[in-house]
Amino acid sequence: MKISAVRGFRDILPEESALWRVLESQARTSFATYGFAEIIVPVVEKTELFARAIGETTDIVEKEMYTFTDRDESSLTLRPEGTASVIRAYIEHNLNHKEPVSKLFYIGPMFRRERPQKGRYRQFHQIGAEILGRDDALIDAELLLMLNDLFKSLQLEVSIDVNSLGDAVCRPRFRERLKAFGESKLAQLCENCHSRLHRNPLRILDCKEPGCRQATVDAPVIRDFLCDPCREHFTKVETYLRQENVAFTVNPRLVRGLDYYCRTSFEILAHGLGSQNAVCGGGRYDGLVEQLGGPAVPGIGFAIGVERLVMLLQAQERHLSTAPDVFIAPLGEVAEGRAFSLARRLRQEGYRVELEGGGRGLKAQMRRADKLNARHVLILGENELTAGKGTVRDMQTKTDRPLAVDLTLPAQAMIDVIRETSH
Ligand code: HAM
Repeated sequence: MKISAVRGFRDILPEESALWRVLESQARTSFATYGFAEIIVPVVEKTELFARAIGETTDIVEKEMYTFTDRDESSLTLRPEGTASVIRAYIEHNLNHKEPVSKLFYIGPMFRRERPQKGRYRQFHQIGAEILGRDDALIDAELLLMLNDLFKSLQLEVSIDVNSLGDAVCRPRFRERLKAFGESKLAQLCENCHSRLHRNPLRILDCKEPGCRQATVDAPVIRDFLCDPCREHFTKVETYLRQENVAFTVNPRLVRGLDYYCRTSFEILAHGLGSQNAVCGGGRYDGLVEQLGGPAVPGIGFAIGVERLVMLLQAQERHLSTAPDVFIAPLGEVAEGRAFSLARRLRQEGYRVELEGGGRGLKAQMRRADKLNARHVLILGENELTAGKGTVRDMQTKTDRPLAVDLTLPAQAMIDVIRETSH
């Protein structure tokens, strides 16, 4: 019998994984410019960590965790998200003693036993970042700016929704009001919302059921309940974002599926992904470090869903280039020998080079260059090469141009000559 992968768990084949790596390297570059360092945390944690951090009454903790009993009877869980683990590590290694501010990022698989569908998997991957030790609006804006610029650099059209969820001072009042409002609409709310109303009333704003959406259109909005410090904080975030021309929408219905959030919360939504359109989510979580037994250190962070981002790149036809900078097509053994050392030299300088040959003819090599989306092909024929000549083919226009080949040129100059010749 054939054995297939487990439902909700997928293989990422080379065609897609190449895109993943480009994304990852773009994110790493962006993290580096903002001073983040990588943290690598385990995929398994004590179940209690997630129950305490994410919240006992969240969907994740109630029904989506992969929990198992170890041989010593302890309850362990495959991590459904990264924030709890990062904070656990932060506390365990006393990182606050080493630095007043920690900026950490992580990349890796997460596990949630959700109903699989397009863009929703049981094993998925996140690129996440957390800042511990800053509670000012400037850092919130900086984090959003970094995300905005990252999405821009990927040429992706997304919208940024932000909201303030208040804090321990002002949220309880809003909770009560929302609960009372929900109770007045009980007949129109779905069963799920009935139970949410008692355990986690904010979640009724997030229900996807059309009836519930309808019933809550004129629900109270948290903005009207914010205490002065929360309101001031949020206004500052908005001002910084406007100053940098970051387009965002204040979405008063934005609530998050994890309980630890306060103040600035956000989601980045994509067009063209269907119902699973959140490509990134995050926000502030002051109080969480303390709640997990650590010092009173504030925090804010986000996580990007890699699968959704890749789907978005595909949907918006942004094929990040994994194409070679140059494809070398030598014809004949002598040319192959020369091409072999040229390719090595270019690669040593960091250029992506694809070298064909192996006795294959020009046509076959061009088919391969096309397949790899190479823009420029350097054709090295035996006789021409002895005369110091070669040909550059522009694969987009399919035009050939002769070029003088000086194999002793430095790599950068060689690449420049090839590009200039083809244009
Ligand atoms: P989250 O909103 O639960 O937040 O997840 C972040 C992102 O992970 C989502 O926007 C989505 O792109 C992706 N994602 C979530 N579940 C799935 C799934 N089943 N399949 C595919 N992609 C999925 C968090 O996890 C927080 N820890 C983010 C954070 C960090 N907040 C503060 N710091």
